[in-house]
Amino acid sequence: MGIRFDAVTVAYDGNVVLDALDLTVAPGEVMALLGPSGSGKTTALRAVAGFVRPASGRVFLGDRDVTDLPPHRRGIGMVVQQYALFPHMRVEDNVAFGLKARKVPRAEIRTRVAEALEMTGMGAYARRHPRELSGGQQQRVAIARALAIRPDVLLLDEPLSALDAQLRSGMLAELARLHRELPDVSILYVTHDQVEALTLADRIAVMDKAKLRACGTPRELYRAPTDEFTASFVGGANLLPVTVGATGVRLGEAELKADTAGAAVGARATLCVRPHLVGLGEGPNRLTGTLSEIQWRGATHRLYVEVDGHRVMADLRELRDPPGLGDEVTLHFAPDDAVLLPAGVGHD
Ligand SMILES: Nc1ncnc2c1ncn2[C@@H]1O[C@H](COP(=O)(O)OP(=O)(O)O)[C@@H](O)[C@H]1O
Ligand SMILES: [Mg+2]
Repeated sequence: MGIRFDAVTVAYDGNVVLDALDLTVAPGEVMALLGPSGSGKTTALRAVAGFVRPASGRVFLGDRDVTDLPPHRRGIGMVVQQYALFPHMRVEDNVAFGLKARKVPRAEIRTRVAEALEMTGMGAYARRHPRELSGGQQQRVAIARALAIRPDVLLLDEPLSALDAQLRSGMLAELARLHRELPDVSILYVTHDQVEALTLADRIAVMDKAKLRACGTPRELYRAPTDEFTASFVGGANLLPVTVGATGVRLGEAELKADTAGAAVGARATLCVRPHLVGLGEGPNRLTGTLSEIQWRGATHRLYVEVDGHRVMADLRELRDPPGLGDEVTLHFAPDDAVLLPAGVGHD
């Protein structure tokens, strides 16, 4: 069942923390809500669950307007950051909780609890208490509890953020598998972590300061971002303040070829180039400057080069003979690898 936000606005004490959100999650789709802390992600989720009332706008589940329905009548499973298991209840009772509240018959509860625990790999832990489980296992139980009610919609609020990095990547793979097993369940997945969003989501909705900035597939947002915030939040980017010319753009003294379709000659704009698409040495679209910093990152070196007062980042693989700090360095990138964006904060 799909989810639709229709101009949903939420305010606390007159402060708008979700500003006229329009967003549709298709049935069976995984939509990530990605944005920095405080951007309104949890608020959007809580509006779907029914824990916060919009000041205006409507929330739909499928064709049904649920804006005025209480949470337990929305058919939603929800998992939050801090597991929120009942510490005095065994795993099986935690998972059964929502079913008992819904007055599901006892035999049916037993079946569904077993099924949900099986799905999350926790079948052997039914009789344990939460304190006898690791963080990752507790989070699995929380997911099992959400799945036990057989929700049409699953809301996940930073479900992996309390886990360490290694567990996190394992759980990401598990969530992807769960979604394959439950292809009809729509998932709204809140995270501030771009890797989680890029890995798991069919589409990503980028939130910034209570507003939706952009929405698209991970590939679209990465390859063709439409604004500076999205470009830098999804994947990291060089955002170069340029002036549009007839066949390209100008950055300080440098003439760069770029697709300027739709931009007026003389206008100010921002050229977005991904660091891994910047090469070292001569090539098309040359930028020459001074190496101010170099970081070894295992698979790559990250170079920071000051070009006319602008810092350009390049991620280079197989850099056998790295330049030294203060050296003059020439970088290049292909015209096709640059995206022209409306001028933003990079301009003063
Ligand atoms: N119950 C509340 N009362 C007052 N302000 C709140 C409440 N919940 C959230 N906020 C504020 O709303 C803004 C958005 O919060 P939230 O949706 O939790 O952001 P995110 O999940 O993106 O970090 C923040 O500035 C937060 O302080
Ligand atoms: Mg949050």
